[in-house]
Amino acid sequence: MDRDEELKFNDLSGRVITLSIRDSYISEKDLILGIADSVEFLRSVPDESVKLIVTSPPYNIGKVYEERAKLDEYLNYQREVARECHRILREDGNIAWEVGNYVYDSEIFLGYSPSGLGGADMGYTQC
Ligand SMILES: C[S@@+](CC[C@H](N)C(=O)[O-])C[C@H]1O[C@@H](n2cnc3c(N)ncnc32)[C@H](O)[C@@H]1O
Repeated sequence: MDRDEELKFNDLSGRVITLSIRDSYISEKDLILGIADSVEFLRSVPDESVKLIVTSPPYNIGKVYEERAKLDEYLNYQREVARECHRILREDGNIAWEVGNYVYDSEIFLGYSPSGLGGADMGYTQC
């Protein structure tokens, strides 16, 4: 663990909020901004400790802000993200996973969701 910085700000009621900027999870903090590789950060989070995950992983479909990876490398990495998210999610938790899409010849193609990544075994369903 290298990074450990703090940023203080006031919420709308004037209460001081401390944002911890780190590259790994630590339970003592109220609010953490993790700046790290996503799988490495997820590995530092305890099992079944998270109620809600909202994620927009790379789509790998050539958006201007992304570098395209080989398909098998991309899928293996995203499977690991899905596995780690499943591990840290509480039984009563939920995950919102943004799926990229592109349009070709008036047809809409959807990117990979956790269930499409083989995550049905982990209990992922698509809605
Ligand atoms: C589909 S974009 C998310 C876009 C975001 N939802 C938005 O509305 O701007 C995927 C993001 O994941 C980041 N990213 C790519 N690989 C990553 C990794 N291994 N760990 C953490 N973030 C990563 C990219 O820099 C990019 O910002």
